[in-house]
Amino acid sequence: MISIKKIINYGIECMSMSLSKSHDIGHAKRIVRHMKNIHREFLEKGYEEAFGITLETIEAVGYCHDIYKAGFTDYDPRSLILEDFRSARILSQRFPSIHSSVKYEEILHAIRYHNRSTIFFFLNRNKYSYITQLLYEADNIEALNYSRAVKGFDRTPRLILNAGYILYGMYILISNIILNKSEYAKEHYRLG
Ligand SMILES: [Fe+2]
Repeated sequence: MISIKKIINYGIECMSMSLSKSHDIGHAKRIVRHMKNIHREFLEKGYEEAFGITLETIEAVGYCHDIYKAGFTDYDPRSLILEDFRSARILSQRFPSIHSSVKYEEILHAIRYHNRSTIFFFLNRNKYSYITQLLYEADNIEALNYSRAVKGFDRTPRLILNAGYILYGMYILISNIILNKSEYAKEHYRLG
């Protein structure tokens, strides 16, 4: 049986060698931090689902959620196609021997669906698992991280980058109105 620590180390290794400037080890570390902060809030609120989640599970999800994107630069359109599904597939192929573990299935599920639209989760509530919500909210906070956008798209004229950032940011803010959010996400969902 492969330990969850090996999965975490594999994610750290992949993200440390990332070709993408915006999906690098710094992004993965911030995702883990945001996920832990949201998890802490849900624990304090006494959410039943929160009590079965370990910090190692959160780290495994956070460090491995973009391992597919780590293989492409920010300008490569191939990195956008089914990226969440593909990150989960890479992980399950790398560690097939723990397929039967319930905890591992939860990790793969969160990674597999983390990049779906808000409408998708609104219509498929069963796909919006506890860990998926932690990752989804953390990743949306990062999507609104302006300095990260500048770092990733450093060859794009600033005017075009700013316009794209504002349009994408507005889409995230507006589309997320229909989902329940942590207070932490509400505080951090902002442009700039
Ligand atoms: Fe991400």
